[in-house]
Amino acid sequence: MSVTAEVSRPIVLSTYADVREALRARDLKQALYDAGGAVMSGALITLHGDEHKLRRRVENRLFRRGTFRYWELTLVPGTIEQSYAPVLADGSTDLVHLGRRTIMYLTALVAGIDPPENTDRADRLEDLARVFSAGATAIHSTRDPAELHAEVTAAMEVFETEFLRPSRERREQLLADLAAGRITEEDLPRDVLTALLRNRAELGVDDGQIRREVAFYLQAGSHSTANLFTHSAHQVFLRMDDPTFAARLDDRRFLQRCVLETLRLNPASPVAWRTAVEDITLRNGMEIPAGSLVELDLKSANTDPAVWGPDGELFDPDRELPDGVPPWGHSFGGGMHACIGMELDGGVQNTGAPDDHEPVFGTVTLMIHALLRSGARPDPANPPRLDSDSKRHNFASYPVVFEEALR
Ligand code: HEM
Repeated sequence: MSVTAEVSRPIVLSTYADVREALRARDLKQALYDAGGAVMSGALITLHGDEHKLRRRVENRLFRRGTFRYWELTLVPGTIEQSYAPVLADGSTDLVHLGRRTIMYLTALVAGIDPPENTDRADRLEDLARVFSAGATAIHSTRDPAELHAEVTAAMEVFETEFLRPSRERREQLLADLAAGRITEEDLPRDVLTALLRNRAELGVDDGQIRREVAFYLQAGSHSTANLFTHSAHQVFLRMDDPTFAARLDDRRFLQRCVLETLRLNPASPVAWRTAVEDITLRNGMEIPAGSLVELDLKSANTDPAVWGPDGELFDPDRELPDGVPPWGHSFGGGMHACIGMELDGGVQNTGAPDDHEPVFGTVTLMIHALLRSGARPDPANPPRLDSDSKRHNFASYPVVFEEALR
């Protein structure tokens, strides 16, 4: 079915309960990324049924319970320090760049791209991830589709030669060493590229699909994280002059609530799209005939008064939530396509109970914490700018200065 043919008449679901049900409905198939083929064709998020189950099972193995908790203790602080050091030395930066750069090291690790060895290479990889994001979200782009497609195709070629090939060759050598008994399982990197190379026959993936899956992971992480980071900083900056609010900012539990509340109000994509592969009837009696395009309005569902009360549109990190409702609403998706990186970025919901000894705050909370500690403030001379290349409400630029630079 052609999505564009159906765009004018999707069935729109906008309550929290309907969207929740639709995200979990097996007969609703992913439909948002058909326009992003150059980077998205055959990527995990586009698969359905058994094909999705098989790929997800292989990739899920990388994220055993506790992996992100371990990362948060061992890897994330150093990654933040490494990304922040040059911009602190400069006295200013753009939050969109800082967000992308910090998470890029982590998503490269998840995806299986060896870490860039210097700033120029990191700039290059960050730029490729930016192009892949623009390609993946082509459906919401305001740019000329042919021009965007050409840019993504060219970026894919650069990515293949400069980043993927050396990383793949190193991993193929390691797999050969494993087969020959020269190394053990423990010596293999735990990343998507290694998992795909190892299981390529079972998964039926060719080189092009492997390339797109690795590129998809790079962009899936960097784009949403940079947006959440910038939106969260914005929400905090808006309230910095309130001494009661400002006094709580060193408490990472409170910051995490601010980040997750920001995410509720700013889902990475305001909508999810699905196509019905069979006739289905929702619990509310609504009938969805096979072939229909269904729009899941995440932004509306995330402020549904039935769940968030009459002030659901307001930012309130202290709000009480009904049982079973996560503070981010549907912003990490749900059901078969639920975000794999959820705990990496959002952490694990802290109960605040005294025995909750090992909170996982998530990378974005730790990034905001580090940002505030370094004295960042919006640059008075350069106001933030929204992204005019996309219909999504995201910042293209958010310049900040560090306090010392203001003195
Ligand atoms: C704030 C940051 C993030 C947000 C808001 C976010 C949001 C989402 C959402 C809403 C989906 C489901 C889309 C749908 O159902 O159509 C999704 C899927 C996915 N996300 Fe994230 N994401 C974030 C960070 C990450 C990171 C850091 C990674 C990788 C390390 C990642 C990897 C993925 C993958 C692989 C999927 C596809 C899962 C599947 O189809 O089975 N995401 N994400």
